[in-house]
Amino acid sequence: MNKILFMNFSPNKKGNTYRIGEKLLRNKDYEVLQMVDYKISQYGQVFEDDQISEVFEKIKDADTLVIGSPVYWYTVGGLLKTFIDRLYMLDEAKILKGKKLYLFAQGSAPSKDTENAITYLATRLCYLMEMELKGVVVDSSDGGKILNTMIIE
Ligand SMILES: Cc1cc2nc3c(=O)[nH]c(=O)nc-3n(C[C@H](O)[C@H](O)[C@H](O)COP(=O)(O)O)c2cc1C
Repeated sequence: MNKILFMNFSPNKKGNTYRIGEKLLRNKDYEVLQMVDYKISQYGQVFEDDQISEVFEKIKDADTLVIGSPVYWYTVGGLLKTFIDRLYMLDEAKILKGKKLYLFAQGSAPSKDTENAITYLATRLCYLMEMELKGVVVDSSDGGKILNTMIIE
């Protein structure tokens, strides 16, 4: 069975990112990981209460990751950027290999440059982590484009 994990990288547990993710995954079986509940240290700044291993524990059995992020300052939000930074040279990150990734980001009025930057980031992330990029969409906060064009298999 295809196990789907929706990772909400917004600090708002029931905000626009969550709302769009919920609609996107209607009629699907999935689990939600609220990333704001985990303390993820910045790359190179590893504190004792760092919880990245707990996140990998939650991710490991998923076949499909649906990552949702708000747009902050013309790119993905800090929670997601910090998570991605931490994957660098991290042994545990090898479990991402072979997983399918859908990544969406929404903001109040994301520019074309923002869309290009996030699309490039998702493409390179999947290439380096050997994940399969199934979709990447950047949209305004109503999520219309995400919901119309991103089909979760
Ligand atoms: C720090 C910060 C920076 C933001 N920067 C942008 C931006 O560059 N472009 C944009 O379209 N929206 C920007 N926004 C708006 C958010 O992306 C938007 O409100 C989003 O819907 C919030 O998602 P959430 O409800 O899941 O938290 C910013 C919001 C915050 C708090």
